[in-house]
Amino acid sequence: MSFTVREASFPADADAVQKVWSWVYSLVAPSEPLDPPADREKWYVGLEDGTPTTACKVHGYTVARGEADLSCGGVAAVATLSEHRKKGHGQRFMVDVLQLMREYGHVISSLYAFRDPFYARSGYGTCGWRWKIVCPAHRMPKTECAMPVKQVMASEMDCLTTVHTKFIRGFSGSALRTPAMWQRRMGTKPPLVYAIGDPIEAYLWVRITEFWGNVDVGEIAWSTPRGYDAIMSVIASIGHNQKTFTWMEPPHSRYLAAHFDQGVEMSIYRQTMHRVLDVEKALKQLKPKGEGAFTFSVRDEQIADNDGAWSVSWTDQGVDVQRSPRGDIAFSIGAFSQAFMGAPSVTELAQHGLIEVRDPLSLEMAEKLFTPMSVCCMEFF
Ligand SMILES: CC(C)(COP(=O)(O)OP(=O)(O)OC[C@H]1O[C@@H](n2cnc3c(N)ncnc32)[C@H](O)[C@@H]1OP(=O)(O)O)[C@@H](O)C(=O)NCCC(=O)NCCS
Repeated sequence: MSFTVREASFPADADAVQKVWSWVYSLVAPSEPLDPPADREKWYVGLEDGTPTTACKVHGYTVARGEADLSCGGVAAVATLSEHRKKGHGQRFMVDVLQLMREYGHVISSLYAFRDPFYARSGYGTCGWRWKIVCPAHRMPKTECAMPVKQVMASEMDCLTTVHTKFIRGFSGSALRTPAMWQRRMGTKPPLVYAIGDPIEAYLWVRITEFWGNVDVGEIAWSTPRGYDAIMSVIASIGHNQKTFTWMEPPHSRYLAAHFDQGVEMSIYRQTMHRVLDVEKALKQLKPKGEGAFTFSVRDEQIADNDGAWSVSWTDQGVDVQRSPRGDIAFSIGAFSQAFMGAPSVTELAQHGLIEVRDPLSLEMAEKLFTPMSVCCMEFF
């Protein structure tokens, strides 16, 4: 039995990938024809003796890590037909897709795992989530909004780009949105969107479906503390006839730091996994401050070009990466990916015994290069 993996072309392979996705995700025979892949979106197909059994799509994103921009493959819709499962196709498929994403030019990959251990075997590390906050209406923070509030139509979403970009540069793992991504994020039935401030310092979007129900706040973003407090005030004013509000925040939640109250539930939602695909290129895209250097090794069983020892040094001008005869910190690729994204930090990874540190100074240096940072992906895919 042979198992091969390749990029699926459109429209030639559309029926094959649709067959896999529709039987796996809808448990039905294919109906509507598939739309072509979006800009920078790729589909991949795995074939057992030439018959398609496995498929996935990869969204091409530019993801922020603080001020650094990273080309990222967001893996979605991984699926093996039921009758072909548990033969190792899923794992084999992921190994080849990692290589194909790297060849395409992505330096990292991210995904929402159905189960983290499955993707950990392909070198992904769990880092980051969204807090899902469910707050009874009478427990909403008592904040004020002293700025103008304006409703924004679906066709005007671009006006939110500046505040969104400032927001996501405060952490790691979210995509810089293009106009097409704004449309996709809003879906086919755009919600009510409110922009706060002039210039805009915050926004929120909501769906209100009933009286005395839950108000689902789909997304909030803010670039100033008063912008956040204004969001809370606007949400509260929407909810005079509602029971609860649900919204989401990155792990470094302002709600948790500034407004938490008993009776409010916060749960980890949509945790993400990340994987560095190209150690050398990914490091060169970081924007560290000051200067420093250390050596490290990476154990990568899927991508041989990452495996082995490296030295990295940096100044304000940029990052230099070379092969090295030694590595003072030993990472698995999963732990390296977590440190690279910013959470858990290298210090936490060392405390948990997840990396081996042979020289304490290298840990200090690594913490400077991989500045600890909250990780959160705001895209749905
Ligand atoms: C997740 C999915 C893609 C895995 O596909 P698969 O081809 O069965 O993957 P693999 O065969 O590589 O691995 C599946 C399991 O079979 C086991 N396995 C692999 N070869 C095996 C063999 N020869 N004998 C017995 N078990 C085997 C693997 O160890 C793995 O075990 P685990 O469940 O403990 O992790 C498939 O189950 C699926 O389509 N699920 C529904 C959609 C979904 O949830 N997708 C994920 C979206 S993030």
